[in-house]
Amino acid sequence: MASSSTAAAFVVLPFPSPSSSDDSDDANTLPPPPVTEPEVASPHHPPPPQLQQLERDCNLAMKELARAGDVDQVVHLFSDLMLSASSAGVPPSVLCYNTLLNALAEEGRAVEARRVFDGMLAAGVAPNASSFNILVKLYAWRTAEFHLAYDEIHAMRRHGVVPDVGTFSTLVTGLCRAGKLDEAWGVLDWMLQEGCRPMVHTYTPIVQGYCRQGRIEEATNLIGFMEEAGCPPNAVTYNVLIRALCDDARFDEVEQVLAEIETKGHQPSTVTYNIYMDALSKKGMAKEALKQFEVLQGKGLHPTAFTLSIILNCLCCNSRFSQAIPILERSTELNWCAAVVAYNTVMSRLCDMGRWPAVLELLANMIKKCIVPNSRTFNIFIHSLCIAEKLSVAKKLVYNQGFPANVVTYNTLIHSFYLSGEACEAESMFAYMTEVANIAPDEVTYTIMVDGLCRQGKFDKATNCFKESLKDRLSKDLLTTLLNRLARSDRNGNILVTFQEIERQGFVCGYMIFEDTVRSICQVGFRQHIKMFNLQFLLDGMLGPGKEVYPVHKG
Ligand SMILES: *[C@@H]1O[C@H](CO)[C@@H](O)[C@H](O)[C@H]1NC(C)=O
Repeated sequence: MASSSTAAAFVVLPFPSPSSSDDSDDANTLPPPPVTEPEVASPHHPPPPQLQQLERDCNLAMKELARAGDVDQVVHLFSDLMLSASSAGVPPSVLCYNTLLNALAEEGRAVEARRVFDGMLAAGVAPNASSFNILVKLYAWRTAEFHLAYDEIHAMRRHGVVPDVGTFSTLVTGLCRAGKLDEAWGVLDWMLQEGCRPMVHTYTPIVQGYCRQGRIEEATNLIGFMEEAGCPPNAVTYNVLIRALCDDARFDEVEQVLAEIETKGHQPSTVTYNIYMDALSKKGMAKEALKQFEVLQGKGLHPTAFTLSIILNCLCCNSRFSQAIPILERSTELNWCAAVVAYNTVMSRLCDMGRWPAVLELLANMIKKCIVPNSRTFNIFIHSLCIAEKLSVAKKLVYNQGFPANVVTYNTLIHSFYLSGEACEAESMFAYMTEVANIAPDEVTYTIMVDGLCRQGKFDKATNCFKESLKDRLSKDLLTTLLNRLARSDRNGNILVTFQEIERQGFVCGYMIFEDTVRSICQVGFRQHIKMFNLQFLLDGMLGPGKEVYPVHKG
């Protein structure tokens, strides 16, 4: 099944054949030192000790800020460092430059990264392989400007820096993510010619690339080849393959791969089993997933919070709630966070099945064990009460400010009040939410309200509610809900007001919106002449005065 280009690549790997080039003796060794001198040969004397300390601190802070995603602060901090350094007569070190470069590159801020790099050269600071690798990553992963990535690798030589396995692997990964597998193989050939041996993390992205394209046979072949080439696949490589097989529901083959891993003297990890069990449970094979859970435990592997949530879902799906209890106990041994997630999983299942006394029991159980419920727990509980038609109890709990009610809580309650025909309660709940509790309604809230109001014939109120929602954004689903209801009840005036308001708030009444309206009206007014006149009236209104409307054909 392997394509010819892959086959060719296999032939030239792992080393070019001795006869293929004249200078084959050099193939295994690093290339000779560059002829050109490095552009900058540290013209500065070492920075004073205080500055060195400042740099170290600064670098740590910059890394921390970058991790938190605050790249603007990283830039600020660096310019402060620049000032201190220049008053001491030295530029910042390559270490700090690299940290700044990396922060910019991770955000895809290519123009700024390039400017920093050029500034570094101008300041006489010699970039090292890491500096170039950051740029290669920027162009290969973030901006997909591969020609620039190649340029950087060529530029390394000019600066007396040798591209390493990290450099090439980064480029290979980027190419594979972009689906350019043939080109990735070309880079592998190139690195071999440069005397740089591929490693597991050079091959694994190619395995992943094949899997993404559904070429699992080729992925398997490549894994076999890695073994032969003395670069055996690791857990990450196998997990990529297992995930692909799982996505295809090829579970027999998953078993084969698991067996193969063990014959090779490795041990599949919990992560591997999680992938497998998750896929089984999603395909409705709860029994098989539970069997794998036993295998995992039999091997002495420790379940993670994710493992437990998969297993709990499986047990709940099969209504094996009694078996879920010991698993809940185990979750408390892991950590509190895992325990809350585990309890929520079971409670939400019970709630879906309408077994609200059991939900209550578990909640009590949790509190007894000092596991602090989170807002999801609370929402599941409120939902259970609503299902049990204990709306007034639920309302009291929400009005009691001790409970962490959020927008989801209110949506649940408002929806339930409308469902049970208590429109007044629903509307007072909405008022309480927005005016007393100060919680901003979301798209779901507005949709529930607009639908509920229209059902009671309160079209003006519903239109006003929609107007409110426009302060946030224009939601197409919400608009569709409103238009459908208005069209069904011949509320053309409201429809026009709605469109005027959309434009007044600065949104564009695009073609899509018109199309929706026309469709709504045609659906309710099929073959009713009067509705066709409505349509013409509306089109006039929507397009505005003085604009041409095609005359309606009279058949
Ligand atoms: C580049 O320089 C920094 C700072 O000295 C160092 O931490 C890093 O390991 C260097 N990178 C390489 C590939 O040598």
